[in-house]
Amino acid sequence: MKQGVIFDLDGVLISTDEMHYKAWKSIADELNIPFGIKENNLLRGVSRMASLDIILGLGNISLPDEEKEALAERKNRRYVELLQTLTPSSVSNEVRDTLKELNDRGIKTAVGSSSKNAKLILKLTDLEKYFDAVSDGTNITHSKPDPEVFLKGAEFLGLSPGQCAVTEDACAGIDAANAGGFFSIGIGDAAGYEMSDASISSIRELLDII
Ligand code: G6P
Ligand code: MG
Repeated sequence: MKQGVIFDLDGVLISTDEMHYKAWKSIADELNIPFGIKENNLLRGVSRMASLDIILGLGNISLPDEEKEALAERKNRRYVELLQTLTPSSVSNEVRDTLKELNDRGIKTAVGSSSKNAKLILKLTDLEKYFDAVSDGTNITHSKPDPEVFLKGAEFLGLSPGQCAVTEDACAGIDAANAGGFFSIGIGDAAGYEMSDASISSIRELLDII
């Protein structure tokens, strides 16, 4: 029985992964780099700059750092514009009920996201109240598959990795959870990833396996 659950945000609690895709696609289109759903899956859980490096790599393009900074900033402006459409009803009842059930059971909950926009998303969707801690892109120096974001999350909860499960839609996130010694649960794109300790097709299923 786990005492804590750490949730990835984009693509697990909310479909902001589609907004990341739209924003990156517009940048890739400008650069004439073919970019579809398959390529987008490579960016799940990966930091903003590392995502840009992957996209530029797909197009065999190398750019000076200042241009890369400008592109990443432009992508973020588009992404944040898309985020403004989020409201509490952007979160499914199933996600809300699952988080509430964990709270009621006294299981500690944290967000573990590489995103620097995580707190904004939690605020816009009124999800903050379900979490005891938030570990995000603002408190880490290494992004997934490095375990830092989850290790910090567990530390904020006052728990050890062995006491926590991590729920992730990114293969890089499952690798990060495993590297940190967490029980890794794959959902969405990471459901069925052979490195996951468990796979679920729907978030409420985690209540039966932790
Ligand atoms: C999450 C998403 C990634 C995104 C990263 C950084 O891990 O899955 O697709 O690149 O956060 O997000 P940010 O909002 O800081 O650009
Ligand atoms: Mg994700």
